[in-house]
Amino acid sequence: MNSPTTPAENIVLIGFMGCGKSTVGRELHHRLGYPLVDMDQVIEQRTGKAITGIFAEEGEAVFRDLETALLEELNDPAAPRRIIATGGGIVERPANRVLLQQLGYVVWLHAPAAVILTRTRKTRSRPLLNTSDSAAIIQSLMERRLPFYQETAHLKLDTSGLCCAELASGILECSRYFFNNRA
Ligand code: S3P
Repeated sequence: MNSPTTPAENIVLIGFMGCGKSTVGRELHHRLGYPLVDMDQVIEQRTGKAITGIFAEEGEAVFRDLETALLEELNDPAAPRRIIATGGGIVERPANRVLLQQLGYVVWLHAPAAVILTRTRKTRSRPLLNTSDSAAIIQSLMERRLPFYQETAHLKLDTSGLCCAELASGILECSRYFFNNRA
């Protein structure tokens, strides 16, 4: 385990569902050449189930345990630098928030609720939003999670007015500054 004062040099993307973590993660992966760990994808590959299937058959708590176990596994100082794209609910557990900061430079990709609603309407792959009133769910989850994203992130970027390439450029510059200047 890394000590809290010597975080690893990964770039960690956090933020609400539909904020662009996976897309920006792929762009950073192409630019830096670091491996991309998309946590939801890893969990799906390992369990052989879609996230919707895990929620439906085993419940959200089982998914959250898988998420925390993967985060603990990623917190390996011997591992190469990586880009880590997390699921939107990763910040709910206090222990996860500590682990995220130990993993490296934490970037919060933010978008307003209305933008999230438009983006997430295109797919049924997010079990928490497969309800008749996804706007209300987004609103209440966002209210609860915003302080957690705020508390965990080293950098907040509003994604709504920027393209993926611009976001990646900003993250690269800021992360270089962060890693070069930290104690
Ligand atoms: C979740 C977000 C999803 C996925 C799961 C739960 C959440 O990931 O982990 O459906 O609680 O916000 P994305 O943020 O990549 O959609």
